[in-house]
Amino acid sequence: MTAGFLGRPNRKGQRLRVYNLVMRAELGEPEVVCRAAMLRELEVDLICLAHYADQGLDGLEEVDRAVGGAFGRALTSGTLTGKSDELFFSDISDPEWSCRRVLLVGAGRGLGDPSVVRGVATAAGVAARGAGGVEKLAWIVPDSERSDSAIQAAAEGLLLGAFRDVRFKSEGEEASSLTHVELIVGRSAAGKMQVAAKRGAVLANCVNIARLLGNEPANLLTPPVFAERALQLVSGGRTTVEILEDEAIASHQMGLLQGVAQGSNEPARVIVMRYEPEGVSDGPVLGLVGKGVTFDSGGLSLKTADGMMRMKRDMAGGAAVIGAMRAIGSLGAPTRVLGIVPAVENMPGGRAIRPGDVLTAANGKRVEVLNTDAEGRLILGDSLVLAQKLGATHLVDIATLTGACVVALGHQSSGLMGNPAAWIETVRFAAEGAGERLWPLPMFEEYAEQLKSDIADLANVGGRPAGAITAGMFLKAFTGGLPWAHIDIAGTAWNEKSATHLLRGATGVGVRSLAELAFQFSQKEKQS
Ligand code: BES
Ligand code: MN
Ligand code: ZN
Repeated sequence: MTAGFLGRPNRKGQRLRVYNLVMRAELGEPEVVCRAAMLRELEVDLICLAHYADQGLDGLEEVDRAVGGAFGRALTSGTLTGKSDELFFSDISDPEWSCRRVLLVGAGRGLGDPSVVRGVATAAGVAARGAGGVEKLAWIVPDSERSDSAIQAAAEGLLLGAFRDVRFKSEGEEASSLTHVELIVGRSAAGKMQVAAKRGAVLANCVNIARLLGNEPANLLTPPVFAERALQLVSGGRTTVEILEDEAIASHQMGLLQGVAQGSNEPARVIVMRYEPEGVSDGPVLGLVGKGVTFDSGGLSLKTADGMMRMKRDMAGGAAVIGAMRAIGSLGAPTRVLGIVPAVENMPGGRAIRPGDVLTAANGKRVEVLNTDAEGRLILGDSLVLAQKLGATHLVDIATLTGACVVALGHQSSGLMGNPAAWIETVRFAAEGAGERLWPLPMFEEYAEQLKSDIADLANVGGRPAGAITAGMFLKAFTGGLPWAHIDIAGTAWNEKSATHLLRGATGVGVRSLAELAFQFSQKEKQS
């Protein structure tokens, strides 16, 4: 792997200098350790602590002495409250301490809750990056947060917060300077907590990879480049990556995907990733399918200028599957996993499909394409069929699929559909454990009637009512009756504005949920 590459020439014949997604160089991937230590001996640039609203100075007495009582005074005056998103920096005056600076991050209420810990640690990571020059950071873990899940959440949050995408800034902005993170715990706990800390670090780095992919503009991240990225990022260890090009796509008779791709000058690719843990040669295979539309113009059913503005993000589901496959391989999940990312560009070129065209899917179903902007369900339909052909026994797809899902749930939760109920619950439970929200929408049979076509087996759109659900009903026709869950991330794949614990841009949503699912999955399947 090279540390950078020259992009395609731009119109002036110059080469755009862009960075390749080579992880260590790009992300820094800070080293994360968990250990016991005396606070005053910590040789770091910043010490961070969560400060809960109902905590007062409990557990903060030692640092308060080091800052000459500044915390106590601020509490009394009301400047320091511990409410969420509050940041309070103070210089350390005690000359015995090696570190010169401490940060209290308001945590609100919820001591010990991993989701709260992740949020507070993210805010600390964002603040540390903003403070500039922080290379080494220590996070003090209170006694009540010495559980594996809280430690993992702290590691995740710090690295998610420290992330910054500066690939396309020529000057002035620096990537995160953070190289070293220490989670400070009690002496007895340090050894076994190290595993949880490393796990959190791997997951956060994989989320950050998905964020980089999601942020990458569509002129650079074309379907072939996207496929190349998957090869670099995912292959190795017990994971193989195969890229299907035109001929292979044709041989699988993926007519829906070919139809979408034909309006673009960019060829389609289908990324097939297989993870096979050692000694596991039978049993269930988890099939993950992620929508990889590198740009969605709408096709001939062209979007408005506003509607098109962020449509480079339309491959976020694919990025989530790629990030999850990398995490699954690095962490060594106990189950076989198949990842499929159909990568296409939806454009209105001269060969583009027209509203009213009929396409034949990989399972032989005929689809009347009434709206070329409902392209995600087309490429996913064929890919769900391919996943079955390649041996998946349980399916999950993840996609920025419908504006209707954004209307239904806003930006606070992804939509969840599928069947049977037990499988949906398995997926929802895994996501909850990973700290990502999924909210179920119903799949009543009657909704399928909206997809009736006059001339073909089904139409690709079902009108305005229940738009997120009819998209789900369309996908259902391609699942062959296997357990299947559909995650609509149209509202959660992107943050519109930055906040203490958020950065504007791609969120990498789904990576942690899908990776967690691969760990919980085989146990559940053996039980049922
Ligand atoms: N990629 C869009 C969905 C989307 C919208 C994602 C907004 C993120 C933010 C999808 O391909 C699309 O265009 N869906 C249409 C479907 C309609 C034509 C039935 C939509 O939601 O308008
Ligand atoms: Mn579309
Ligand atoms: Zn789309």
